[in-house]
Amino acid sequence: MSTIAIYPGTFDPITLGHVDIVVRASPMFDQVILAVAGSTSKNTIFSVEERIELASKVLEKIQNVKIIQFNGLMVDCAKENNASVILRGLRAVSDFEYEFQLAGMNRKLMPEADTIFLPTSEKYTYISSSLVREIAKFGGDITDFVPKVVKNVLIDKLAASSR
Ligand code: COA
Repeated sequence: MSTIAIYPGTFDPITLGHVDIVVRASPMFDQVILAVAGSTSKNTIFSVEERIELASKVLEKIQNVKIIQFNGLMVDCAKENNASVILRGLRAVSDFEYEFQLAGMNRKLMPEADTIFLPTSEKYTYISSSLVREIAKFGGDITDFVPKVVKNVLIDKLAASSR
């Protein structure tokens, strides 16, 4: 039986921290599904199509990764895709409380699935998508935080929106 892990998130945009989680998880599972949230309370800079396109480009070399959009409950998407593992990255203690609540609630909604946390690699612990967006907005260098293609697209997007 194959083990499928789902890695849900907003990915606005995908960062090197997210990539690190996917790269390390990919040998552990038969398939890793990166599930990009379409309906989110977050005010995203990229549309869901753009976030999927960026993630696809960045992860194209990893064979057992599939990228999909989901709307509504994450557990419904997990069930539809036969995922038995919910994958999340943990950056710091500050992530813990929220992630534990999310994991507990998801377990209640889908008892047959388990959440597995991967600690983010040390060099990425301080990265978040919103900080990356903010740094880029004010002209800071985001080279160390996102893949090159993401950097270029983000800079273009911000330039277009300021015109
Ligand atoms: N490296 C870098 N950044 C990371 C990271 C890592 N390893 N892990 C998390 N982050 C950052 C993200 O960039 C993001 O930063 P931001 O808030 O500044 O943008 C933040 O940590 C958390 O984002 P993410 O991991 O994308 O999760 P999220 O909180 O945006 O998404 C969902 C949460 C979408 C998974 C969750 O709300 C969900 O499942 N929603 C669907 C509806 C549902 O099922 N609700 C019931 C839940 S019980």
